This record gives sequence, structure tokens and C-alpha cells, in this order.
Amino acid sequence: MRYIIGNWKANLNLEEVDNFCQEWNVATPNEKTVALAVPCVFYAYLATRKIGFTPILQDISIFGENGARTGEITVENLRGIEPPFTLVGHSERRRDFGETNEVIVAKAKNLMRAKITPIICFDLEQMEELAKLLQEFAPKTYLLAYEPVDAIGTGKNLSGELLQAQFKLIRQVFAPGTKILYGGSVKAENVAQYHDLSDGVLVGGASLKPQEFAQIVERA
Ligand code: 13P
Repeated sequence: MRYIIGNWKANLNLEEVDNFCQEWNVATPNEKTVALAVPCVFYAYLATRKIGFTPILQDISIFGENGARTGEITVENLRGIEPPFTLVGHSERRRDFGETNEVIVAKAKNLMRAKITPIICFDLEQMEELAKLLQEFAPKTYLLAYEPVDAIGTGKNLSGELLQAQFKLIRQVFAPGTKILYGGSVKAENVAQYHDLSDGVLVGGASLKPQEFAQIVERA
């Protein structure tokens, strides 16, 4: 299985989301899983319509239960419209909201309890600690996304021998069998490079353009 996950981050408004859906006309092949992490305000809207792609969330509350938590979205809020996956630990959450590996793994735990697969993002400096914290979980209950911070939104995607060496190291540090995606300036023109190395890709900017994202799905 290859995972092609888009991340819209805090982009698009309702009209733009509708335009995306109208232009999106891709039949997902059986051996590929395609999902788009949308701003949560659009999630239920998209999850309850036939739109041809799977909407997922970009984050989840650290609080596992519903209650007096203004502004939070819990796994219990999602009951009945659960996404198959949810991102956690994106570098922008780590950078802008000070999220640590402990916080991220606590969120991942809430998701796993609700049978939602977390896609846990990390850069190399967080890797060793994250791997230790994940030891208690079966590798098939989560996905990882290696996103080198310098490659995010810069057009400087990592590739070649450097990335091969990094992926080798990453696979040694995490439990055998863990599925690992690559993210960071993935575009239609470079996505084929990640085919043999990773189990899929996490795509930011290029996932906002339906035609380009469709090409990525085809070539990934
Ligand atoms: P870009 O593809 O825009 O570099 O973003 C990568 C990313 O952060 C995906 O989560």
C-alpha cells in the first residue's frame, strides 16, 4: 500500500474547497490510499458528501474526552464521522505551539484508542525520543512522516544519497515494519523519486492544486 496524503494546512475558504471538489476527478487505485488533511472547519462538510477523496484532520485534542475544553476537537467529537487518519506532531505545531514528543504521543494514543491511525510527523532531531515513546505501540497502529524542516515550503525537497542514508537510519531507529512517508516540497515533478524509498508522501502546497495533486497520486 502506498499512502499519498495531502495537507492543506490553514488554507482555502468554502468557495475554494467547493472548487477543488468540482475539479477533483480521480479514481484512487486499489494499491494507493489517498487522503487530504483539511482545516477542521471543512471536515464534517466534506466527510458527509461524496467528493472522491478522503478528508482527514490535521490535529486532535490532547484531551481524550468531551467536556469543558473550549476550542478543542476530541476523538469523541468525531464519533460517527471518524477519519481513517489524523496528522499529529507536524513541525508547524511543534514550532508554533511548542508541542513536544510527549504531547504528540498522547494525542496519537487518543487516536489509536478511537481506532483512527495517527500519522506522526517528525524531523531527525526528534527521532530517537519519539521512537522510545512509541515502543509500547504496535507499528501497524500508526504511520510516520519524515518531514525535514528545511524542506517544508522551500522548494528544496531532499533526495538522492543523503535522503537514502537518512531513511536507512530512520528505519533502524523505529520498529521493523513501520510505514514511513516523506514530506517536504513534494511536487508532481519529483514525487517518483520517493517511490522506492518511502511508503508514500505527505504533500503540502501541491495538494492545494487538484490537477497537480492528481498527478502526484498517479506518479507516487
Ligand atoms: P510542502 O509540500 O508545501 O513543502 O509542505 C510539506 C508539509 O509540511 C506537509 O505536511
